[in-house]
Amino acid sequence: MSQTHASSDTFFAKRSHFCGDLTPKQIGETITANGWVHVSRDLGGIVFIEVRDRTGLLQLVADPSKNPEIHAVFNTLRSEDVISVTGPITHRPEDTLNTDHVTGEIEMYPTQVDILSRSTVLPFQINDDDDADRVDEGLRLKHRYLDLRRPKMFNLMKKRHEIAQTVRHYLNQAGFLELETPILVKATPEGARDYLVPSRVHPGECFALPQSPQIFKQLFMVSGMERYYQIARCFRDEDLRADRQPEFTQVDIEMAFVSQDDVLKLVEGLIEDVFKVAGVEIKAPFPKLSWKDAMNRYGSDKPDRRYGLEFVDLTDVFATSEFTAFKGPIESGGVVKAIRVEGAASYARKELDDLQIEAKRYGAKGLAYVVYSEEGPKSPILKFFSEAEKQAIVEKTGAKTGDVVFFMADGFVKACTVLGRFREHFARRHNLIDESRHEVLWVVDFPMFDVSDNGGLSPNHHPFTSPCPEDIPLLDTDPGNAHALGYDLVYNGHEIGGGSIRIHQKELQAKIFDILGLSPEEVQQKFGFLLKAFEYGTPPHGGLALGFDRIVALLTKTESIRDVIAFPKTNHAVCPLTEAPSAPSDEQLAELHMKWNIKESEKKEPTPAQ
Ligand code: AMO
Ligand code: AMP
Repeated sequence: MSQTHASSDTFFAKRSHFCGDLTPKQIGETITANGWVHVSRDLGGIVFIEVRDRTGLLQLVADPSKNPEIHAVFNTLRSEDVISVTGPITHRPEDTLNTDHVTGEIEMYPTQVDILSRSTVLPFQINDDDDADRVDEGLRLKHRYLDLRRPKMFNLMKKRHEIAQTVRHYLNQAGFLELETPILVKATPEGARDYLVPSRVHPGECFALPQSPQIFKQLFMVSGMERYYQIARCFRDEDLRADRQPEFTQVDIEMAFVSQDDVLKLVEGLIEDVFKVAGVEIKAPFPKLSWKDAMNRYGSDKPDRRYGLEFVDLTDVFATSEFTAFKGPIESGGVVKAIRVEGAASYARKELDDLQIEAKRYGAKGLAYVVYSEEGPKSPILKFFSEAEKQAIVEKTGAKTGDVVFFMADGFVKACTVLGRFREHFARRHNLIDESRHEVLWVVDFPMFDVSDNGGLSPNHHPFTSPCPEDIPLLDTDPGNAHALGYDLVYNGHEIGGGSIRIHQKELQAKIFDILGLSPEEVQQKFGFLLKAFEYGTPPHGGLALGFDRIVALLTKTESIRDVIAFPKTNHAVCPLTEAPSAPSDEQLAELHMKWNIKESEKKEPTPAQ
């Protein structure tokens, strides 16, 4: 274990101990530590330095009266210099004990210090996590290798690693094979734009980067692998947010000869284990909520159930109302949804007005309300309501003095989703979210298709999702009302996974492509190979993909998935460190038989130097 002097293959004294492993047990021993100068303090001539490695800190002391040579070297050391130090471990004097960590009881008076490398002036201080958190993220990402030196970032990376290992362990034990799928592929549709890679050897042709391994994992089932997983990189050119990256990682799973329940059960066990790594105990089976129920009650297909604020349906109450803003939508097949917010009667008029503006920004027609004040109900629209309607509102919502009931009338999906956004707003506004709760649930029974305003159909999951067997006849008569064997996993209001039982019959898959408006030629060109594969004996199969970065971010309570990705892209889909993407050279373009066609107005400003 102990090797305190340079050996023939190293030019420096190699560590005998990690800083974080040192305890008062080592007092009296001479040890060697390797690491970075974390902080340096000169207290009346005596210099204190904390050396840091990935496990922790060790305090070093140089006293000019006892060891002038070491003291002279210490005086030259600056933050982030890399050093090797050797010396005896001693007990700290009582008045300098730091009881925050075990190494706070000990220190070292080095007898040898080697400077292995110097650091230049840092672009930001990294010795205090809180300070560094306040540094502009662009600057942190430009020098990500320094940002990752922070103990906080190291611990996030370590947690990511531990979760990945837990996933592997669980799935290996369950008989899964970890297999890779290609990165240069034919487009795999998941609803985003593809990243394209032009082919040099096939002029005019491109590969796509996979939006997911979906098609290949299904082909693995045709191949008889039966149980496959991969911690897979996916690429999607879409608008970015805090929980989305253009390249991200999924835990991708597929199984043959399974029902929906088999997949859910397997994933529940995996999630239990993964959450345990973060110290969170959750118990399977997780509750299941149909998509319709989730929309009806929470206005979201990923409801956060750490708080109530459930919707009340008032469509029946206003079916014959005089109030045209409600009656109109009902007559065109829509709904009236209401939400009761306790304590909102104290809102100033301006706040109520701002909510109207917000509703219109979301594309709604308004956000009607009734305030239940001490003097009784108040609202500009009260005059349009009959006595029976007023009474029904109170009975159905439970409204009492101090509350406000808000109403949204529109088509079902629109009314629910817009009111769902206000549900989240009110939860934050009134501090109703219990951060100590962990609400995991399945949303099931999704519609097969999303129906656009002009009646067009697009897949709600992806086009390989099987319809519910009993809804197959609807595909011919009313496909917009068919349900799918699709499921999403939701944690505290975030979609952390999604999957489905797949179509494994060629004819049914061809029918779905047809409903989605793909011509037989297009189908042949894009998915002919998949339909061909289905001709050779395809087992029923299904699976799911977990959003790995999202799970790590949520379990570590970081604000953005960027914090748990070692080298992420910014919200503008660039890497500030390497300055990717960048322009190819004229030679590269010529080899690819390509020419840019960029308008002057579209040209990028050069990135300012930092
Ligand atoms: P889906 O598109 O729902 O399904 O993706 C699965 C999970 O991946 C995460 N996710 C993302 N995470 C970060 N950045 C993104 N841009 C991003 N997009 C998605 C989400 C999501 O739940 N092939 C199917 C799965 C299947 O059917 O088996 C698929 O990709 O947490
Ligand atoms: P109006 O009659 O359009 O002036 O609307 C009266 C009130 O009802 C305003 O507070 C509007 O914001 C609200 N309102 C109008 N249409 C709707 C609707 N479809 N759903 C909910 N509130 C609405």
